[in-house]
This record gives sequence, C-alpha cells and structure tokens, in this order.
Amino acid sequence: MQPSLPAPSPLAEHWQLDPSTVFLNHGSFGACPRKVLEAQRSYRDLMEADPVRFFVQLHEPLLDASRAELAAFLGCAPADLVFIPNATIAVATVLAALEPTLRPGDELLTNNHEYPACQHNLKRTAQRTGAVIVSADLPFPIKSDSQITEALLAKVTPRTRLALLSAVTSPSGLALPVRTLVPELERRGIRVMLDAAHAPGMLPFNLGELKPSFCTANSHKWLCTPKGSAFLYVREDHRPAVRPLILSNSAEKPKPGRGQFWTDFDFVGTDDPSAYLATADSIRTVGSLVPGGWPEVMRRNHDLVLKGRDTICRAIGVEPPAPDSMLGTISSILLPPHTPERHARLAARPSAYHDALQDILLRDYSIQVPLWHVPGTPPGSTRLIRISSQLYNSPAQYDYLAAALKRELDREFSL
Ligand SMILES: Cc1ncc(COP(=O)(O)O)c(C=O)c1O
Repeated sequence: MQPSLPAPSPLAEHWQLDPSTVFLNHGSFGACPRKVLEAQRSYRDLMEADPVRFFVQLHEPLLDASRAELAAFLGCAPADLVFIPNATIAVATVLAALEPTLRPGDELLTNNHEYPACQHNLKRTAQRTGAVIVSADLPFPIKSDSQITEALLAKVTPRTRLALLSAVTSPSGLALPVRTLVPELERRGIRVMLDAAHAPGMLPFNLGELKPSFCTANSHKWLCTPKGSAFLYVREDHRPAVRPLILSNSAEKPKPGRGQFWTDFDFVGTDDPSAYLATADSIRTVGSLVPGGWPEVMRRNHDLVLKGRDTICRAIGVEPPAPDSMLGTISSILLPPHTPERHARLAARPSAYHDALQDILLRDYSIQVPLWHVPGTPPGSTRLIRISSQLYNSPAQYDYLAAALKRELDREFSL
C-alpha cells in the first residue's frame, strides 16, 4: 500500500471498498453500499428461515414489490420487466428468441464499440441462421453524436432486421444518441436490442419514452445493487416470443394473473433471488445519500468524471476524445501514441488485465482503473484509460491517478 493515498469522498463510508485501493472502476462491476448488502442479507435470512415458505409464499410478492420500484425508476410498466442475472444473458435470450425469425442474408446491425460478450452471442446467431453481421465503425475520437447517427444509419439496408446498440459503450464510455436512433430504427421496422448495461443510474433513462423492442441493463452497475441483478425489458408486441433459455416448472401454462412472461422468468429453477429483491433497497438507499436524490447523484458523478478527465488530459498532454455532452459518469482518455515498435514491446508484457500498465498502476500506486486499446484497433495500438465516478470518489483521487500516469508514461518512453 502507498504511504499516503488520496482520501475518497466522505460518502465512501457508505461502501465497504478497501481503503487501501483507489477505486476508479465503478463501471465494470459496480459496488454495492453496506446498507443494501444488509438488506440483501435480510432477504437471505428470510429464505433460510424456511426455504419452502419463502419460495412458495414470499418470493413472488417480494419480487413484485422490487420490480414495481424498478419500473417506476425506469418510467415503464412492471409488466414490461423481468429480472435476469446480467446483460449478457439478457442479450443471449433475446437473440435466441429471434433466431426462428431470421433468414439467410438478413442483416444484424452492430458497431465496433459494442460489448464483446454481446458481439459473441450475435455472431453465434448469425452462424445458426445464415444472417449476416453488418458492423459500423464509430468515429473515435469524436466531435458530435450526429457522427454516430450517420455512421449507423449509413449501414441500414432493406435487409436489416435487428440492431444491437449500447446506450453507453463499454470500451469507450460514449453515451450514444439513443433518443434519436431507437425511434428512427424502429420506425424503419428494425428491432432494436438496446444494451443499456450502464444507463440506469448514470443518465436520465426512460424506457416508457424510448420504447425499444428489447432492452437490458445491469442494476449492479450504476444502481449499485448486489451483483447479479439486471433486467430484461420486452415491448408488449414481442413478449409472446421471448422465453428464457431455461424453462422451469411453470413453463406449460402461465400462473393465474401473472402472464407467461413473468411466469417464465420469475422462477428459472432454484437460485438466490436476494440481489433482485434488494434492487428496490438500492434505488432508495443511493437516492437518499445526497439531498437532491438521483438527479443529484447523476449530476455529481458526471461533474466529477469531467473534472477527473480534464485533470488527466492536462497531465499527459492530450485532448478529450469526446464532447462533454456524450458522457455520463465514465470517460475514456486516449494515451499518447508510441512508435509501432515500442507499442509492440509494451503490448508483449504480461498482464493479468488488458495491458501491463494497468497492473503497474495497481501494484505500485494501488489504483484500480482499466486500460485497453481503442475499439476497432488491434492490441498493441493506441490505448485508452477509462475512469469512472461514483459518490465515493473524490477529485484528489484523479489528481493522484494523473500524476501516476504521467510518471509511468514518461518511463514507457525509455523502454
Ligand atoms: C455495454 C455492456 N454490455 C454488456 C455488459 C455485460 O455485463 P454482464 O457481465 O453483467 O453481463 C457490460 C459489462 O460491462 C457492458 O458494459
């Protein structure tokens, strides 16, 4: 541990993050406040006090109560939503449901900033059906979100059947113009699978207004729920076709008053549902940590990430790669380029992560922050670092990262 690490924000007391790590990567797996973990524990205790009573009598009403608060947060109806463990499973579930509708030569629109796991599932769907993946290259660095709209719409053809689209891209941290793109694609008869893994809790996000065919998001990211709580939203017209990958006891007929969608997904074999049940606790808990509730949480985190980004850009002498208006609470910063030979030498160093510089920042400075190469470019080319801001972070933590990064980049130039 470093002798004098920068202090996190006073709100860090609500989390149980290791104080000997400067944690600047909320984006990958989130982090759950103590109070929400206590709530999760109380659901587990209830379950273990009488597992049969819990699953037969308590599970559904508790799940419905949590879902109702999540739906209110998202501006949609509870009937639109089911809980699911994560965004990857949700995307795979939707693709499996769509496979019978796809014909050889149909086109599946994606782009080079989509999350790898989702892309892998899309590729498998293409292999199984003969559909063709059409991938748009998103410009990066970028000046305006209209460049994204243009790049994606330019790839639409009469054969486009589905668009896989992130609300916020994982490798680059860009908030895509989904309020323009979703209605435009749907208007053209293209079903949109909106991967909003990062959106709820990061940006204003209203599914009742957006109305994509399908959407998923991870509550365990910016809603700060316990791990393994995500949702799948399916618009009413598509709902009969979407079944879980695994069918359970009630698959033959819907439970009275609940419909096939809830019946299918609410119990997919025995599992621990406590992360789903604690989702409402999370929405309430995080929203109560600052006086202005969720709008203030998002604004503070957004302001802090911009400040952190600017500090780092200044320290290492680069320009921000995207306008402020395209950012939520994660931001990526391009690292200065090396010669191809030095890039190759640096990329050859062993890493437990994506790049040895990330290992060095953790080992020598106790900073947890991700670093990888720019999407659409091969490993060993220009790299970026992606910072996150959550209520527990402080400006001093980004100052500290900026100084560490500057020092290590200078050192790289001698390697
Ligand atoms: C945009 C995006 N989609 C999907 C995922 C996958 O999330 P999970 O691993 O929880 O399935 C992530 C995770 O970081 C993501 O950022």
